[in-house]
Amino acid sequence: MQKKILLSGIKPTGRPHIGNYFGAIKQWVEMVEDHESYIFIADYHALNFIQNKDEMKSNIVDLMIDYMAAGLDPEKVVLFKQSDISEHTELSWIFDTITTMPYLMRAHAYKDAEAKDKEICVGTFNYPMLMAADILLYSPDVVPVGQDQKQHVEIARDTAQKFNHIFGETFKLPEPKIISEVAIVPGLDGRKMSKSYDNTIPLFSEYEDIKKLVMSIVTDSGGGIPENVFAIHKLIRDEKELKEIYEAKSGKYKELKEMLIEDMENFIKPFREKRKIIASDIPKVLEILKSGGEKAKKVASAKMEDIKKKIGVNLY
Ligand code: ADP
Ligand code: TRP
Repeated sequence: MQKKILLSGIKPTGRPHIGNYFGAIKQWVEMVEDHESYIFIADYHALNFIQNKDEMKSNIVDLMIDYMAAGLDPEKVVLFKQSDISEHTELSWIFDTITTMPYLMRAHAYKDAEAKDKEICVGTFNYPMLMAADILLYSPDVVPVGQDQKQHVEIARDTAQKFNHIFGETFKLPEPKIISEVAIVPGLDGRKMSKSYDNTIPLFSEYEDIKKLVMSIVTDSGGGIPENVFAIHKLIRDEKELKEIYEAKSGKYKELKEMLIEDMENFIKPFREKRKIIASDIPKVLEILKSGGEKAKKVASAKMEDIKKKIGVNLY
């Protein structure tokens, strides 16, 4: 039986945190076991935010090491970077020509960016088109992402439908896959955990950092169960058992935080140690990234051939 196809990716814009892990990476590690899988580094997406050569380079290499340390085995999943496959940007242009501005103006990410900064760049506005190309070149059945990316996957699906309608059946319609109980992992301040809010617990934190971060989790002064501490704690420990402990220690915030520090350290330590081993051989990491790119290129270029035929530019 043909395996179902999975595709997803992350922008190399900073250190992955436990929100990325529980909202996305953990599902990938489980799903690659029985899917034909493509996981990539969205470096051209990151160019909207990172415009510095050295920072870009180190972020890409770091994210590749993070992927492997988080449990993505290159024997089971094609790991590659977006900029190695020129078909992504090529297809993005084609999608631009069949998509209207008012449609893209309805995207949450655009609205948020615009609310913050009046002069957003064209790359940010067009982001969903590049993301649609990332997805549709590989004909995935599922695109596992956190809740915040759901709309982008829906835009990819709409775009596929639109293209199929204009040029004839070409793209399989992808489905977003979101795990509901961890759909949004809260950060230290109770808002969504995100690099851009600076409220994260990085997945590869050192013990001293875990201590500081957990101690800085915002608690209300009302006594009882500290919501934000509990919400993070339940990611790594059974919720029912935890509820009993929190009720028994009601109001004892410091003790509860100390318990979370120890549980978090036990959870993070194996990741951190594995990462150090992988990071000790960068040439090998780059070799794996390059060979992943070669595999992905074959799939993407075959799809692009078909697309060019469909739109009428492939003459010889
Ligand atoms: P960030 O918001 O920190 O910049 P990214 O946008 O790079 O994170 O997200 C990478 C992946 O991790 C996406 O699939 C995203 O949906 C998921 N993700 C990010 N933050 C969270 C969170 N707090 N809870 C659940 N999933 C998340
Ligand atoms: N937009 C995603 C994010 O910010 C990253 C991404 C780019 C992606 N292209 C993708 C995710 C394709 C899944 C599929 O997290």
